[in-house]
Amino acid sequence: MSVISGKNIILGVTAGIAAYKATYLVRLFIKAGANVKVIMTPASKDFVTPLTLSTLSKNPVHSTFYDKEEENELWNNHVDLAIWADYFVIAPATANTLSKMANGTCDNLLLATYLSAKCKVYFAPAMDLDMYKHQSTKENLVKLESFGNSMIPAESGELASGLMGEGRMAEPETILSFIENDIITGLPLRGKKVLLTAGPTYEAIDPVRFIGNHSSGKMGFELAKEAANLGAEVILISGPSNEEVDHALIQRVDVISAEEMYQAAHQYFKDIDIAILAAAVADFKSATVASQKIKKKEASLTIELTKTKDILASLGEQKQQQFLVGFALETNNELENAKSKLRRKNLDLIVLNSLRDKGAGFKKATNKVTLIDKQENITEFGLKSKTEVAQDIFNEIIKSIHA
Ligand code: CTP
Repeated sequence: MSVISGKNIILGVTAGIAAYKATYLVRLFIKAGANVKVIMTPASKDFVTPLTLSTLSKNPVHSTFYDKEEENELWNNHVDLAIWADYFVIAPATANTLSKMANGTCDNLLLATYLSAKCKVYFAPAMDLDMYKHQSTKENLVKLESFGNSMIPAESGELASGLMGEGRMAEPETILSFIENDIITGLPLRGKKVLLTAGPTYEAIDPVRFIGNHSSGKMGFELAKEAANLGAEVILISGPSNEEVDHALIQRVDVISAEEMYQAAHQYFKDIDIAILAAAVADFKSATVASQKIKKKEASLTIELTKTKDILASLGEQKQQQFLVGFALETNNELENAKSKLRRKNLDLIVLNSLRDKGAGFKKATNKVTLIDKQENITEFGLKSKTEVAQDIFNEIIKSIHA
């Protein structure tokens, strides 16, 4: 999955012959799963039609502050567009537009949006070789990079003028991989290894029966996805779960019992930077596992239960560089119970779920959590989707790691 999947991209198109390549670029962004809106400078419409770009981007193309031909014209708010965008890509970026960007000129919608944008800006210059070599262009490019904008360098080759040299806009595939690599390099958990446990465990009674619980694994899987989206390499140890995950950075290890989860967690823990134990591990298992199916000939059956190993507590004992996060599911005296669990299991952070909160807990798409750190700072969150809860948890972890 591409790092731009689900992201909002504004593609700014300016008036150069390479504008036709913007059509391919829109297609690549869309194929990678991004949402795309196109802003064109008025003159760029001589090179490529708004109809082509709106069809490919699945969104209306903007080029003026309002559309005079519409009966009830609407103001194309550059501030709203800028807020919407996660990334702003200007390709092709002509010498004229680059000069205006470098100097804060704001005489069209694209430039007004650029000036309002707080997101990362990429630009792909496209011009004739002498314009590209001109001292004023060079100075503008340096100035734009000093603003934190990233240049996707022009390539050498035959130019539309027939001249050979530098100035040709990078190919759409090159632009996409430049942006993807840049985003990946800047991710906050890049180079970090994250261990997650998720789902229930099943403790066998006989070949067909087990002790289990209603955990779906959703929260743990959302945490795994979020860690990978933040650039981490993830080991996801999952008990039996219907959840699915497909991400190049996530390695899924399937286990069934608490003992298997314990072994797997210990196998990977040494090299881990952050471990989050979100699994609902069975606390008890059958003392003996019958090798044949137990028959119902008796009127009652007593199963002796013994405790499973506490994975979180044992990792807490071995902890060195690892930032260790546990979950607490409580029904009463929640904060005190969670704090004592944090201390007892030697954790850096505990995620408290209260079963008294509506929308929290097993099998739901939502959760309501309170985070308690080692210093016993308490942060309460509202009812949110499990995806958002995963983001909140990682924001807190990243803050703590960098504190
Ligand atoms: N946990 C674990 N291994 C176990 C049991 C729990 O790793 N055998 C982890 C869970 O993944 C979770 C946390 O410990 O992160 C939850 O602990 P919990 O089971 O709620 O509390 P306990 O410490 O077992 O205490 P109590 O049952 O008294 O609430």
